[in-house]
This record gives sequence, C-alpha cells and structure tokens, in this order.
Amino acid sequence: MTLGFGVASSVVVIILAAPARTTDPITRNILPVEVVILPDARDGARLVADAITALVADRPDAVLGLATGSTPEPVYQELVRRQQAGAVDLSATTGFLLDEYVGLRPGHPASYRAVIDRQVIAPLGMTADRVSGPDGGAADLQAACRDYERRIAAAGGVDLQLLGLGADGHIGFNEPSSSLGSRTRLKTLTERTRHDNARFFDGDAAAVPQHVLTQGVGTILEASHIVLLAWGEAKAEAVARLVEGPITAMVPASALQLHPHATVVVDTPAASALALRDYYEAVFAAKPGWQGI
Ligand code: F6R
Repeated sequence: MTLGFGVASSVVVIILAAPARTTDPITRNILPVEVVILPDARDGARLVADAITALVADRPDAVLGLATGSTPEPVYQELVRRQQAGAVDLSATTGFLLDEYVGLRPGHPASYRAVIDRQVIAPLGMTADRVSGPDGGAADLQAACRDYERRIAAAGGVDLQLLGLGADGHIGFNEPSSSLGSRTRLKTLTERTRHDNARFFDGDAAAVPQHVLTQGVGTILEASHIVLLAWGEAKAEAVARLVEGPITAMVPASALQLHPHATVVVDTPAASALALRDYYEAVFAAKPGWQGI
C-alpha cells in the first residue's frame, strides 16, 4: 500500500508500507547470504576451487566471472595446481572480467586483462578469445560498455562469479553510492581505492587511473552463483556491513543480500566484526557435505 510520496531533486521517493512478515520457509531462506568462516585464505581457496571443480565437471564450458586484485589469487593458484595434477580441466570455460582501468596502454602489466592473462588464461590453458573484459581503451567507452553487456548475455550469463571486496564495500569497481541496479559503465575511483591499489603501480597512487569500466551491481547480481572472498582484518568492517548491515548503495556489496545464491567466504580475521559469527560457524559445521557451497 502506498502511504505517501515526495520529490527530492530528481529522485521520486515512494514510501510503501512494509510487507507482512512471511513465514514461508523458501522465501526466508533465500534472503541472507551464506557465510563460511575458515582459518585462512588457503582453506578458503580450496573450498572455492571445489565449487568450481564441481561446476566444470558438470559443465566443461561453464562461464566464470573473474575478479582481479590480491584476493582471488589463492583460488587461481589452487586451480592451476589441480589442473596440473589433472584433477580439473578449465580449458573449455569462458571467462568475463569484472572491470578494467580506463586509459592504460595496451598490455600494461597492471591492466586487469594482463593480470588475468598471467594468472588464469595462460596457466589454465584457456582460449584467450573466450575471455573478455570491458575495453578500457575504446574510443567510445559507452559503446564498449553496451557491447560488454551484450557479450555476457550472448554467452548465457555467468555461472559462477568470483568477487573480492573493497575496504569501502565496493564490488567490481562499484564505489559507494553506486546504483544497486547499475549496468556496465564508466566509474570514478575514490581516493581510498586508488591509494589501496597503488601497490600494483609501484606504490604510486597518482599512477592509478581515475576512471574504470565496471560491471554494474545489477549486472553482477545476474550471475547464477556469487562467491565473494575476503581475507584479513582490513576487510572485517566491510564484511560485517555487507552481511549484517542494511542493503544500501553506500555499501554496494550489501546488494548480495538480495541474491538467491550468494556465498561469502572469509578467513577468521575478516570475520572478526560479524555479530553472528558463532551462528555462521555452527550452520556451516552442520551442513551436509554434499551440498557444497
Ligand atoms: C577487482 C575488483 C575489486 C577488488 C577489490 C579488492 O576486479 O573488482 O572489487 O576485488 O578492490 O581488491 P583486493 O583483492 O586487491 O583487496
């Protein structure tokens, strides 16, 4: 029922009465994200590699959503180890990057495409043409974003999306205040993120591009299964806001609470600010192994 409305700048604010609380177990069960707390990143990497191994065993041409940055590195290393041991074969998979810097020269070692070439495509024997990222060097960036959305849709969407988490709550490069319905587009990085990423640019924050192309929050939410990873105490506050805070554009990662199959895999330090930490541990300990994540 509509109770009232007002107009603030160009935003129409419609206030709706809260829906009646549901007792339907299915509806209740899809609301929260699953939180898995493990002692360290290597344990987390093994668990996520198990999920990817199971997916690819079922669908060798699965579509993987590839994150960059430090966080997913242990997962990629674990997958490379398994591939070399013959325990998984990712060579027929398709991949989509989350984001890319704008304006780096082609082949720049810190470009996300170059990182994925080194860490994923080459060691896993993936076909380079089957891995795409937003084209941060395009003359027409808006057309590049539209084209990227079309390519993801043409591949049938992402089966499993890996995500890292910014200390400010960003996913992809959707910085705080990003629309939770956003699609692939140009974004401006916050000074905090440029500072955090300076380590990939010889410690020089000024060398980190101001602009990026990133899948939108709405684009990310269309993946069938989202697996967000976070390691270390520096991510603890963002993890707590993502899992236990309100759903808000000020914490774009909180949109995962709306997703029917989102898994948050964290190490003990990254879990340290979670109020229901003991409960999440008990739930995971009691989970039948065959369910996976
Ligand atoms: C990278 C990305 C970012 C990072 C985040 C955390 O593709 O989209 O959201 O996941 O900035 O970065 P790290 O893992 O380096 O702490």
